[in-house]
Amino acid sequence: MLARRVADAMKTNVLQLEHKVFPDGETYIRFPEPVDDERVAVIQSCYPPQNKNLIDLLFILDAAREMGAREVAAVVPYFAYARQDDRYRSGEAVSAKTSARLIEAAGASHFLTIDVPSNKALQFFRIHSENLTCMNLMGTYLKTRALEKPYVLAPDDGAIPLAQTVSTVLQSEYAWFEKSRDKVTGAVSTSGKDVDLRGRDAVIVDDVISTGKTIANTAQIAKKQGSRRVIAACAHLLLTGNAEQTLKVAGVEETIGTDSIEIRPQSVSIAPVLAEALRRIW
Ligand code: R5P
Repeated sequence: MLARRVADAMKTNVLQLEHKVFPDGETYIRFPEPVDDERVAVIQSCYPPQNKNLIDLLFILDAAREMGAREVAAVVPYFAYARQDDRYRSGEAVSAKTSARLIEAAGASHFLTIDVPSNKALQFFRIHSENLTCMNLMGTYLKTRALEKPYVLAPDDGAIPLAQTVSTVLQSEYAWFEKSRDKVTGAVSTSGKDVDLRGRDAVIVDDVISTGKTIANTAQIAKKQGSRRVIAACAHLLLTGNAEQTLKVAGVEETIGTDSIEIRPQSVSIAPVLAEALRRIW
């Protein structure tokens, strides 16, 4: 469990909350011990079912405050709704803003997330907020793998900093592709760059894999450009619907993820990054 790994890294206690779901679907949360005057880090990734996970987070934050916690950090490795960080079509709800307001209103004094799909989403917080990255850890893990002349690819310009970090650790080259997404249908189109990948392992890095289309498009181009193997390495493996099949068909041999999404395969733990940030704050 991620919370236990963070607590172990910080040499502190983990408090396992009582949690149940009533027959009608409502959530019940109980702190089994007092937290008066404590600094409490609530570790709650908001992957699907994101609405339930977000509500659970709000209940826990509010209860911790009401029980007298001195400070409460919302540690949300996967920040659901971050991608809807603006009103891209008139009338749209800016759900990242609403989520930020709710988290603040529930009593969080700090907000920590990892490799958020949109940094802009953090601008809605008035409390201290930080976007951390697990890409150094990802690079370190990839280094232990027998990669053949790795070449790091960012599937869009948003992933450039991630690709830079991983390529620095791997001491490899990197490039980024251009991506556009239809605002109505969500269809993704990608145009590649002229990169010679012959005989090389392409490592595609990104923050999130949801439907897998972003990575699949990049993988197909990498294959056409001669890559020996294609590996995808991402902070948050949502793997929605038939994403795994989409990736396989596109030639992705392996998908590497983290314990940000505890219901998916995970090769890398983000616990050291979270623990380091919490130690720094407190
Ligand atoms: C958005 O640009 C993000 O960085 C990801 O690239 C995107 O969310 C991945 O979504 P999908 O897997 O559905 O293409």
